[in-house]
Amino acid sequence: MYNKEEILRLLQDNPKNEDITDFLNANDEQQNVLFKTAVEIKSKYVGNIVYFRGLIEYSNICGKNCKYCGIRKGNKKLSRYTMTEQEVIDAALYAYRANYASIALQAGELSSEKFVQKVTSILERINTETNNELGITLSLGEQNEETLKMWKEKLGIRRYLLRIESSNRELYEKIHPNDETHSYQKRLDTLKLLRKLNYQVGTGVMIGLPFQTVENLAEDILFFKALDVDMIGMGPYIEHSETPLYEYKDQLLPIDERYNLTLNMIAICRIMFKDINIVASTAMQAINPTGREAAIRAGANIIMPNLTPQKYRENYLLYQNKPCLNEDAQHCKKCLENRIELTGNTIGYGQWGDAGHYFSRQEQV
Ligand code: 5AD
Ligand code: SF4
Ligand code: FES
Repeated sequence: MYNKEEILRLLQDNPKNEDITDFLNANDEQQNVLFKTAVEIKSKYVGNIVYFRGLIEYSNICGKNCKYCGIRKGNKKLSRYTMTEQEVIDAALYAYRANYASIALQAGELSSEKFVQKVTSILERINTETNNELGITLSLGEQNEETLKMWKEKLGIRRYLLRIESSNRELYEKIHPNDETHSYQKRLDTLKLLRKLNYQVGTGVMIGLPFQTVENLAEDILFFKALDVDMIGMGPYIEHSETPLYEYKDQLLPIDERYNLTLNMIAICRIMFKDINIVASTAMQAINPTGREAAIRAGANIIMPNLTPQKYRENYLLYQNKPCLNEDAQHCKKCLENRIELTGNTIGYGQWGDAGHYFSRQEQV
């Protein structure tokens, strides 16, 4: 059993894989002390505030075939949609008027010229119609340098979230098809490119994947450290029956353990990285009705209320049991306000909530 001082020393002072693994396995009293330490760090470096990123799931059309994902190209039991430009604008305006201050635009991965043009035109309109006041996070997969540069420099996009999914190359290759469109190297290069282009860079992994070990997760945390990330979005892996990895469903960690491991990952990342943004992922709520609150109590400070029009929601099921399928934006807002209040945090209405880490890095340069 380690106390707060020992946790800080072990995790903040050049931790090794073994140290991190130890804390990933924390349960009961040790886990409580870990969360308490994380919450203290959170309060000191980012405050007891949760920032909203209104989530717009723009399209479920995806050119990829990730073996874990419910909207993979190979899943034919799904009707495909793309929101109209006006629907996206309306969702963005909802976020703007409700004072969320930020949105996240997410979609399956496409990089055709037509897709890039459509997104660019939507982003331009959002900027115009909100006086450039909305902080925008993009989560649109791997795009080329020209596109990423244009979105950053011409449109002022601040943040980009690209999960590495697993930082271990071997594991990455097991959970993706073995072809050019699923290259570990390309994903890594894109993350480096985002940093070079001066985005606030976010990445993350799934927790409890088939073949994944706790040591792999410790490696992931060391990967976040090496990349010096500004944001982390990670969540439990949840099996989906229409995907190839479903055949390993009996070999997975029990769902409660995936859930607990995710909380420990969040707490460890908060303690190690202090002033970054960490998402309380929706997948946590798919496992436990109060999963997102638990993530906040373990150190997370970002929540992504869903703004996708209800008629599309059931077609954006990356994993099963996704919550909020029958609720609308207004309902989710109220629901989250109550839930967040119970955690003793306030909501950062009207504030972008950029990662302090990004700015402290700029000062050092
Ligand atoms: N379980 C949990 N998360 C998943 N994602 C995709 N499929 C699943 C799943 N079955 C996550 C991936 C991706 C993000 C959009 O959703 O990490 O980056
Ligand atoms: Fe497409 Fe992303 Fe799902 Fe992979 S994880 S299939 S890139 S939506
Ligand atoms: Fe959508 Fe609670 S956040 S219903």
